Amino acid sequence: MDYEAPQFFHVMRYATEAEGDVIDMVSGDPDWDPPSALRDGLREFADFEPKQFQYPPSEGLDRLRELIADDQGIDQSQLVITHGAGEANYLAMARAFERDAGDEAVLLDPVYPYYPAKINMIGGTVRTVQTAPDGDLDVDVIAEAVSTDTAVIVLNTPNNPTGAVYRIDDIRAVVEIAEDHDALVVVDEVYDKFDLSGRFTSAQTIDSDHCIVTSGFSKSMAITGLRIGYAIAPAAHIGAMKARHMITTVAGSRPGQYAVLRALEETPPSYYSTTRSLIAERIEAFTTALDGVGAAYTTPHGAFYVLARFDGFPGTLENIERLIDEAGVAGMPGDAFGAGRADWLRFALVTDRTTEAADRLGAYFQAR
Ligand SMILES: Cc1ncc(COP(=O)(O)O)c(C=O)c1O
Repeated sequence: MDYEAPQFFHVMRYATEAEGDVIDMVSGDPDWDPPSALRDGLREFADFEPKQFQYPPSEGLDRLRELIADDQGIDQSQLVITHGAGEANYLAMARAFERDAGDEAVLLDPVYPYYPAKINMIGGTVRTVQTAPDGDLDVDVIAEAVSTDTAVIVLNTPNNPTGAVYRIDDIRAVVEIAEDHDALVVVDEVYDKFDLSGRFTSAQTIDSDHCIVTSGFSKSMAITGLRIGYAIAPAAHIGAMKARHMITTVAGSRPGQYAVLRALEETPPSYYSTTRSLIAERIEAFTTALDGVGAAYTTPHGAFYVLARFDGFPGTLENIERLIDEAGVAGMPGDAFGAGRADWLRFALVTDRTTEAADRLGAYFQAR
């Protein structure tokens, strides 16, 4: 697995350049609308006075930080607004390594490929541990892997790509293991609004100096292009993270932050429940069609990805390209997420053609 070059962009380009009609289920780019107040916020921003087009506070617009802090029940000082959850993850990981408390990251397999790529870039080494077969946290396996070399343990819940939603008690147990070894736990909650199980609880409810939560609005508001995320960190770490954010980026984008704050002020809970229902319907349609062709698959408890396995067709890049060319369906190779799901293919349910995609897959594999 080449951690340095996540394959998303390669596969997306391959699918775009393919000759026939291809159903795109590669990346996690939502195809549904952002909240209407978000669009209003962007329009309104365009007419603001010149002062509003200049640097915002580096840690983020005050009103946006106030809204997030109130929503999460945290002190505003613990919060930094970032360029997506991606930057928040980088800040948290870099903080873990700059403490001289180890040079190893414990990551779970399957893994969101940007985590090991970031760890490599920061100069750390990666130790991978397997999750349970259903993608759930295996606290004992993590306990065995953690040592005095461990600087950070990275968790993602609801999970990309397995759809697992971790129990808060299990996350707390991992934080306690980290505390015993002076490591940090980073919990990436960017899919927090896509909990289909009802058991998601944010890790920011865990009272520990060793736990940092990252999240953002890319998925929840269907705005991966606006790049608005955040990190919530204890007092011991937030200052260093804000400093790194300021030195690497100066500050985030003001129009995006303004639009998100307008959306947070005005968007009713029904916006999120409607998108959750849409995802649940797509999961049902896609997995029912997969049943019809005897494929194995995961039924996600959260996020919006399905892992599927077809006999004799491992989840390699070559096979993904074959499916694009011969079946007209684009997914991601399972081996991009680590060895544990190398036989699987990942499909993002970000198209209203999910049933058609599953039918195409069915026809393709029946004919093979
Ligand atoms: C687990 C995970 N974390 C972070 C990100 C990136 O989020 P953002 O767009 O907020 O940087 C993604 C995007 O797919 C993701 O799946």
